[in-house]
Amino acid sequence: MKGLILAAGRGTRLRPLTHTRPKPVIRVAGRPIIHYAVENLLEAGVEEIGVVVSPETGKDIQEALAGYPVRYVLQEEPQGLAHAVAVARGFLGDSPFVLYLGDNLFQKGIRPFLEAFRQGVSAVIALVRVEDPRQFGVAVLEGKRIVRLLEKPKDPPSDLAVAGVYVFTPEVLEVIQDLKPSARGEYEITDAIQGLIDRGLEVVGVEVEGWWKDTGRPRDLLDANRLLLEELLPKVEGEVEGSALTGRVVVAPGARVVGSTVIGPAFIGEGAVVEGAYIGPFTSLGPGARVMRSEVEYSILEDYAVLEDVALRLQESILGVGAKVQSRHGLPRAHRLILGDLSQVELA
Ligand code: DAU
Repeated sequence: MKGLILAAGRGTRLRPLTHTRPKPVIRVAGRPIIHYAVENLLEAGVEEIGVVVSPETGKDIQEALAGYPVRYVLQEEPQGLAHAVAVARGFLGDSPFVLYLGDNLFQKGIRPFLEAFRQGVSAVIALVRVEDPRQFGVAVLEGKRIVRLLEKPKDPPSDLAVAGVYVFTPEVLEVIQDLKPSARGEYEITDAIQGLIDRGLEVVGVEVEGWWKDTGRPRDLLDANRLLLEELLPKVEGEVEGSALTGRVVVAPGARVVGSTVIGPAFIGEGAVVEGAYIGPFTSLGPGARVMRSEVEYSILEDYAVLEDVALRLQESILGVGAKVQSRHGLPRAHRLILGDLSQVELA
């Protein structure tokens, strides 16, 4: 069994965060999203892992996965999930494989899908009941068997959304060979699965245990951060001085918390500095981030982001790598903003 993680998309819904970096390297609860995918595959016993990257995302993904035993496959253009599988044909050979979307998070891992696959079916699709299935692939079941699959239907025939893990026999590669692009111009994995069904092969749906998150939009990232922090094991390895830490708090090595209040669950990354500050529940600080004389909760500060001397508490916010929010002193008392394309600022 091989694993194929897809990490070559454009991440348009997460701009500006994804203008400069791919979505799977954004940190939730202190770790790049793609780490969780690799860990889940390894935990399920899948040790030969390929990661599909694009020319734009390759370097960042490789940096985020440094030290992990994975191989990389280049997809020149993000022409769809089935296309990404097709370009990985050399890596996959004639092995069955788990296809894992690199921006999806599964609380309880992927073992149940592999177990269902071992019953001898052609494909297993992870499914989850959602309120609004229109933004997902949607499955129609008869018993455990999937009889129809539609990509982002306007009028969903069920509330069973396709979550981003699939297990396939190599038969799917033959179907992909004959696929035509969809109305949105992509080679869709849902069409490939429908092709398997149309050939009379057995495709089963297995509902996801625990929570599942597709980190497509900023609020999904904050939500995923919250869900992962809820399982955080407290550990203080950095320096804590004159501060009150309450609840589950991680202070990573090299981090400094001085004269501050931290209410967990919260993650203070390597080398981060928190001084005269309040860090509230569900906050993650990336490596080297700094929170000085400011308050923040339910937020993500990525690597080297800075929050300094800001009077009002920051909430439900995401600061990208190296982003700075600082108060300025003196007159005129005005906001001064240097924002990249598609940045969002809400002033109270
Ligand atoms: O998250 C679950 C949904 O994922 C499913 O319900 C849908 O059926 C499935 O098509 C997919 O929809 P998305 O619109 O969310 O897919 P997205 O374009 O975000 O791509 C998912 C991942 O695959 C992402 O990490 C980028 C990567 N990707 C995407 C494309 C289009 C590639 O590596 N290559 C590609 O060509």
